[in-house]
Formats: sequence, structure tokens, C-alpha cells
Amino acid sequence: MTIELHSVSKSYETHAGPFDAVRELSLNMTPGEFIGLVGPSGSGKSTLLNLISGLDHPSSGEVRVAGERLAGLSETKLASFRGEKIGFVFQFFQLVPTLTVFENVMLAMDLVGTINRSERHKRALELLDQFGVLRHKGKTPSRLSGGEQQRVAIARALANDPPILVADEPTGNLDCENSDRTMDLFADCADGGRLVIVATHDTARLGRLSRVLTLRDGALVKDEVNGHG
Ligand SMILES: Nc1ncnc2c1ncn2[C@@H]1O[C@H](COP(=O)(O)OP(=O)(O)O)[C@@H](O)[C@H]1O
Ligand SMILES: [Mg+2]
Repeated sequence: MTIELHSVSKSYETHAGPFDAVRELSLNMTPGEFIGLVGPSGSGKSTLLNLISGLDHPSSGEVRVAGERLAGLSETKLASFRGEKIGFVFQFFQLVPTLTVFENVMLAMDLVGTINRSERHKRALELLDQFGVLRHKGKTPSRLSGGEQQRVAIARALANDPPILVADEPTGNLDCENSDRTMDLFADCADGGRLVIVATHDTARLGRLSRVLTLRDGALVKDEVNGHG
């Protein structure tokens, strides 16, 4: 599923007047790419991820996903778009603390409804197994290490088999080994044909990416394709 940005800007109202968090971005992102968004804190990475995933609307310009303008969708359509097409991974995992690991993954499928009810149980167990956390399925998230929680979060993000995976600083809270493992899992997702977009400060792992977009003050200052992802 392709994402197109056409001259996208996002301006916030502040006491000091309008502030441009994202400026005139135009680019295409295509299935199979593993894209890193880099740039200093405040350069607009999270804002851009929010625009791409329809969590926020541009002040001007257009975001198109699979050819469709997100601005043309009703709130209901936008909500199903997010549920079906986009998997989210966050720096602090954002698992539901009162549910077990298994229930967290089930909840994602129950909320969206793309996966047949009869297949959800088996699919949740398979995903947890794939990410090496099946033995923790009956525990609540706080009993797991950070790396394990992030793998549960990735399993949950993939529960509805989304074509696009978006992650905001997913290794920001992980040690070196778990950061490597997380980036490997994302690379596998891109190899499998998903579009994977990761905002990151983690310059040590840029080599895993197929393309690196550098933002500064909301503007795209570099768009580099890596020789090998
Ligand atoms: N809701 C908001 N209102 C005003 N300014 C905001 C808002 N959200 C983000 N910003 C500002 O926009 C800029 C970009 O923020 P952000 O996208 O979070 O950057 P990054 O993720 O690269 O750290 C920052 O200067 C931030 O303070
Ligand atoms: Mg951010």
C-alpha cells in the first residue's frame, strides 16, 4: 500500500503565533520499503507519523494512501482505515496493563474485526510464538522485560495483518540486543512486502533501513536510499 505526500504542511497555533512543525513535504513511500525518519528532537517526526496515519490532519497539502485522500474520509472511515491498514508500535509499548499478553493481542483483533472470529485465538498464539513471547501469554505486561513487552506490542501491531507498520521511537527504551532484535523484526516485515516507517534517534541501526529521510525544523533535508537494507 503506497503513501503519497503532496506538499504537506502542519502548523500549530501557539501563543507566539503559528508554528510550522512540518513544511511542504512531498514524497512517496511504497510497499517493501523500510523507512527511517531521523532528525533532532522537535524536527517533526511524530507529527509526520500522525499525518501519515490519519491521527492528525495537515494544515495544507494532501496525504493519499493507496490513492485515496485521507482528508476525504469520514471519521468512521478513518477509524477503520487505521484499524485495518496500520499497525502502531510506540516507545513505551502502550500495552493494556490490566490485560494479559494474550488478551492484548486478542483485543486488537476484536476491536477491528478483519480477522475471522474463529481464527483469532490461533492467530494470537502464532504471533506470540513467532516473536518468542508465547510462554508469557498469561502474564500481564508489567511482569515482562522491556524487550519482551515491545515484541508483544509488535505482535499486537501485526494482529490485523496491516499493510503498513508505523513505529515512533520503538527502540528508545530498549537495550542494545533488544533494539537489534526489534529492528530485525521490522526488516522482516518490510521484506514480507509491508511498508514500514520508523521514527528513530537510533543512528547505530540506520544500516538496517532501506531508506533514510532526514527532517530538520519540519523540512525534508535528505532522502537517501541505503545500498543494502
Ligand atoms: N500540539 C502541538 N502544539 C504546538 N506545537 C506542537 C504540538 N505538537 C508538536 N508541536 C511542536 O512541533 C515540533 C515537532 O514536534 P514532533 O513532531 O513531536 O517532533 P519529533 O517527534 O521529531 O521530536 C516541536 O517543536 C513541537 O514542540
Ligand atoms: Mg517524536
